[in-house]
Amino acid sequence: MTDWNKSDWRNKPRVQMPDYTDAAALAAVEEKLSSYPPLVFAGEARRLRAELADVSRGDAFLLQGGDCAESFAAFQADAIRDTFKVMLQMAMVLTYGAKVPVVKVGRMAGQFAKPRSAPTETVNGQELPSYRGDIINDLDFTPEARIPNPEKMLQAYTQAAGTLNLLRAFSTGGYADVHQVHGWTLGFTGAPEAEKYRAMAERISDTLDFMQAAGLTTETNHELQTVNFYTSHEALLLEYEEALTRLDSTSGKWLAGSGHMIWIGDRTRQPDGAHVEYASGVQNPIGLKCGPTMTTGHLKALMAKLNPENEAGRLTLIARFGAGTVGEHLPRLIRAVEEEGANVVWSCDPMHGNTIKSSSGYKTRPFDSVLREVREFFAVHNAEGTVPGGVHVEMTGADVTECTGGVRAVTDENLSDRYHTACDPRLNASQSLELAFLIAEELSARRDGVKTAQSA
Ligand code: PEP
Ligand code: CO
Repeated sequence: MTDWNKSDWRNKPRVQMPDYTDAAALAAVEEKLSSYPPLVFAGEARRLRAELADVSRGDAFLLQGGDCAESFAAFQADAIRDTFKVMLQMAMVLTYGAKVPVVKVGRMAGQFAKPRSAPTETVNGQELPSYRGDIINDLDFTPEARIPNPEKMLQAYTQAAGTLNLLRAFSTGGYADVHQVHGWTLGFTGAPEAEKYRAMAERISDTLDFMQAAGLTTETNHELQTVNFYTSHEALLLEYEEALTRLDSTSGKWLAGSGHMIWIGDRTRQPDGAHVEYASGVQNPIGLKCGPTMTTGHLKALMAKLNPENEAGRLTLIARFGAGTVGEHLPRLIRAVEEEGANVVWSCDPMHGNTIKSSSGYKTRPFDSVLREVREFFAVHNAEGTVPGGVHVEMTGADVTECTGGVRAVTDENLSDRYHTACDPRLNASQSLELAFLIAEELSARRDGVKTAQSA
């Protein structure tokens, strides 16, 4: 055991966190949360770390996805089910392309707190504090709604518990059956506009038929109808994280009990700051967002602080530079990792560097930019001889109109139809699945490349 303490972050500079005005109310909430059961268990976090270790070696692929911000208003079984369902579809297509297992991690059951680019926002001349996610304040544009309220942490905990409960049921209760999942995908590729993905879908059908004929049926093979599904969120609101931190008696190590994996955002990754301090002491797999301002010096300091034992699967570097700039930033960071001999998972977040304002005034992300960033990420890893381990996307199973493009093209004019996100624009169900098909093509080309190199 280390001498790290779950409240040590309080002695470090903090950014992007609310100033609660009612200290007594805050303390009461923290006390309650500290007595509640953790949402996840240490054994699960360790299993995820082992699976991510496989990802770091190229023996598995990581799919991390879900809402930008979960919201209290959108807490419904259908929404959880639909996002889970699309992630399973994506995972199956990616498994086919990569020919390795896909590690599935939701931005779900805890993704409530948001860093913001500005502390205030102005609408029609009125300036109010920014919305910081439902765990902190309300989206409504009124002075009362924007006051940080610690009680909201309790509702976030309850929602996270309810969401995780349903995810666990879906994961093991028969809903994740491979034949059913592929059946949904055939529904997508059956549409005329998705014709270009039909050939790959048919090859997956053939594979499943072959497995069935060879006696690998879901009745006899439990693995074909259950999945491991993990949760993750940005560990931004440290009072909440601290209150759910538990000591694991098996390992004697601390665990963030709020989710299986937590990550540090691009705005809160100061090597001597509060967020890095907190994450450094818990045994969960940690994600670290790496944007254009990440220097090689900071990255080296962060790797030393967050993964001093250089354990594979502990640290996932989530690159989010923006299409067109990956070649400028990723090679220098990859080389810093290689110089240190560090074990990391490299994942690509093609969302956060590609946000633009549409002509119709909505914050959006063009599907083409998302895809382009993923392709640049693959190309750089292929050139450097390193492993492109996974993707991190903001997505939903609902048919929203938040990102433009895709085969069922969403245009700037369509954005207002079903623009429902509480924060950043998400890929809808069809855009998400399409992205998975396109990444599967990249992965399969990469495998062919590796095979050719080996036989040469
Ligand atoms: C996010 O993942 O929602 C986010 C805010 O990302 P970043 O920290 O990379 O900007
Ligand atoms: Co976001």
